[in-house]
Amino acid sequence: MSKTILITGGAGFIGSHVVRLFVNKYPDYKIINLDKLTYAGNLENLRDIENKNNYIFEKGDIVDEGYVIDLFAKYNFDGVIHLAAESHVDRSITNPMEFIMTNVVGTVNLLNAAKDLWKANEEGKLFYHVSTDEVYGSLGDTGLFLETTSYDPQSPYSSSKASSDHFVRAYGNTYGMPYVISNCSNNYGPNQFPEKLLPLFINNILNGKALPVYGDGKFTRDWLYVVDHAIAIDKIYHEGRNGETYNIGGFNEWTNIDLIKILCKQMDIALGNEVGTAEELITYVKDRPGHDKRYAIDANKLKNELGWAPSLQFEEGLVKTILWYLANEKWMNNITSGDYQKYYKQQYN
Ligand code: NAD
Ligand code: DAU
Repeated sequence: MSKTILITGGAGFIGSHVVRLFVNKYPDYKIINLDKLTYAGNLENLRDIENKNNYIFEKGDIVDEGYVIDLFAKYNFDGVIHLAAESHVDRSITNPMEFIMTNVVGTVNLLNAAKDLWKANEEGKLFYHVSTDEVYGSLGDTGLFLETTSYDPQSPYSSSKASSDHFVRAYGNTYGMPYVISNCSNNYGPNQFPEKLLPLFINNILNGKALPVYGDGKFTRDWLYVVDHAIAIDKIYHEGRNGETYNIGGFNEWTNIDLIKILCKQMDIALGNEVGTAEELITYVKDRPGHDKRYAIDANKLKNELGWAPSLQFEEGLVKTILWYLANEKWMNNITSGDYQKYYKQQYN
């Protein structure tokens, strides 16, 4: 059945993989990608599908209420997959207001526009909110985040995402907004902006620069290949139950330092360097304020209910990712000139 779907933040890292999957898999759907093209948005991520006739790009800001209302009137969307956000924890520490505006106000603008367009509980309509495992806070040495885990966000970023999740549920409860939410763990893969751990470290190794490990490096994250996240979003969009939350994770926990050592080894192999060369760049630096110790997702609800599982083994995904960055040096060079240099100096010097 044909549908018109709004994907927000489609020029970003995860959004571009979601847009590609939907445009290629559903030729009968019309996919509208709304993106402000902040520093993190990059239309280069979508060159391979930009001329498909079921794809339209709209440059705009979800914080602009009037713009969002007009866009909903123009396209009469059947569904929204909402990924647009400020997404980097370190930036949320230096500039929380930007996160409140985009992540909270922007989400509420989209909810209001959908509420005005759709009837309560209207069949065939869906607001899919893409969220993060960081809303659950930080774990100790054991335990996993479940969909029923209480929210306990610790950073301005995770607080803004938690707030937006609450608004989505409130609109479901109060106005009959048909919705699903997914909370995912750390993604890695092609097209990730080099402020996040893996692309930052890949780029620094390529340039012989220090690898800044926060604190003692013994913080734990659960890593998932980005295409597997996009596949999960597709499944949840089409088969998820109205009003439900699904955790998405890689069943794949690593301490930062162990992960970085594997990255260094695989980079040495890919570059034909003696193993041990990249590890010499590891430099312990001041910790991130309020740094969450451990995230780990129990994704069994999604696995058991919808039959989703990660498709890649971690080292396989990591090598694939490294090879993508090596083959796309121009992509990296374009985004690491100009403003990126200013950000880097502020953050790391
Ligand atoms: P990203 O920073 O790479 O991309 C965000 C995109 O949103 C960019 O294209 C940017 O231009 C756009 N955007 C920002 N502000 C906007 C605004 N006001 N109006 C319109 N567009 C705007 O982010 P990402 O890592 O791809 O994350 C996408 C979503 O997934 C976010 O909601 C994030 O919270 C969530 N998430 C990310 C991860 C991860 O590991 N990266 C994990 C779980 C959940
Ligand atoms: O868990 C999901 C979240 O994962 C997403 O919601 C966020 O959008 C995404 O940015 C990511 O958050 P993290 O803070 O976990 O990712 P980041 O890549 O910034 O950091 C990963 C770990 O590496 C974290 O423990 C901090 C550490 N780190 C990061 C950077 C950038 C360093 O040690 N040095 C660094 O320079």
